[in-house]
Amino acid sequence: MKPKLKRVFQCQSCGYISPKWIGKCPDCGAWNSFVEEVIEAESISKKAETARLKTLEDIQPVPISSIKITLSDRLSTGISELDRVLGGGVVRGSLVLIGGDPGIGKSTLLLQATDNLAKKYGRVLYVSGEESLTQIKLRAERLGAISENILLLSETLVEKILDWASEEELNALVVDSIQTVYTEEAMSAPGSVSQIRESATKFINFAKQKGIPVFLIGHVTKEGAIAGPRVLEHLVDTVLYFEGDRGYAYRILRSVKNRFGPTNEIGVFEMTGTGLIEVENPSLIFLSEHSQNSGSAITATIEGTRAILTEIQALVAPSNFGMPRRNFIGVDYQRVNLLVAVLEKRGRINLAGADIFVNVVGGLKITEPSSDLAVISAIVSSFRDIPLHEGMVIFGEVGLSGEIRAISQTEMRLKEASRIGMKHAIIPKSNLERLKEKFNLKIKGVGSINELIEIIGS
Ligand code: TYD
Ligand code: MG
Repeated sequence: MKPKLKRVFQCQSCGYISPKWIGKCPDCGAWNSFVEEVIEAESISKKAETARLKTLEDIQPVPISSIKITLSDRLSTGISELDRVLGGGVVRGSLVLIGGDPGIGKSTLLLQATDNLAKKYGRVLYVSGEESLTQIKLRAERLGAISENILLLSETLVEKILDWASEEELNALVVDSIQTVYTEEAMSAPGSVSQIRESATKFINFAKQKGIPVFLIGHVTKEGAIAGPRVLEHLVDTVLYFEGDRGYAYRILRSVKNRFGPTNEIGVFEMTGTGLIEVENPSLIFLSEHSQNSGSAITATIEGTRAILTEIQALVAPSNFGMPRRNFIGVDYQRVNLLVAVLEKRGRINLAGADIFVNVVGGLKITEPSSDLAVISAIVSSFRDIPLHEGMVIFGEVGLSGEIRAISQTEMRLKEASRIGMKHAIIPKSNLERLKEKFNLKIKGVGSINELIEIIGS
């Protein structure tokens, strides 16, 4: 019997179904996200019923103590920055989604990983729905990734890919990209939410059954989320984002979800003529051209499991227009506006008629409030045109009444600062009192922004 088909409108962001077109999704709030799709009527309830009957048959709880974890459950991709972001290698049977803007280097990274996996463990299948086999070969030659054990397949039908892959001996599967493949089970066009969800579910089942890792490449929409984002992010085990300005050579790989490791861990890469190379010492890179002029402050942020030093620059200049310009890159816009207000009210620095620009050098996006103190220092330093001490690292959170609040992991930050060769540190007073270790740094504790402004002035 032919399944009954039904036309509906589905939100491409969260999968919400509506019988008619609507401008704003009532579920996730996305605008203009509804697209007409064809689905099987009753398919959802029927599928749920079959799934229930199936699980009832093989329900078998096991005692938690009897579950063994072995180290061989993880494969090393041969790229240590990628392994670290994954939580120490990729877990067998897991599904990893890698998202990022076009041209950022997703295919390059995965082809390099494929080559390493193939050399170490044996056959790896790289499926591309985006590029021809010749194009991939050209890239592979550039990267020197031409191991015998890399198998290439140019195919977009999920059933065909998995039929072949299930029969063969494979150690990993890469799908480039999830938006180009489609399954016969969903009626809509490739790239639509229902296609992405159905296809991803098939890859998940395949990964679990076969016990090999599957990497999916995902495109990013204008808004910066993976197309068909929520549905996909919920399904997979690990979500990594590849970020960075295409104008710069540096790329940052960040884990935003990881069932098998820490989140917010970052890996830093440099795009070269022969592929991506790992940057093992990101602090040195971010500080390599660090300026000795006024308006520059160095802070230490925690990214996942390690501390990284970066430079924050500010430029404060008299405004020529009625409305002063405020432009902040790499830091939270609202947060910096708040810090400017605190500086005006508590620090008695009049910034009302000034244009203020703040930039985090090297393309890192800082989300931690621990950078507050460095942002304020950079602004004050530029405003007064006084350079900060050479080799000084600054971190701490600033409260609304101008007090400096304690932050976490002070020791890790100071350790990294002294390893990089910093000489001075300004940290919250309460953190200084609690310090247990000794560091090769002259450390000053500050309790309010006025104390900080005094230090900058002296
Ligand atoms: P690619 O991996 O194709 O990006 P994505 O899959 O995310 O769309 O990378 C494309 C860019 O990287 C392209 O602009 C060329 C550049 N590139 C290099 O600079 N060096 C290299 O060795 C390779 C393979 C690509
Ligand atoms: Mg690509």
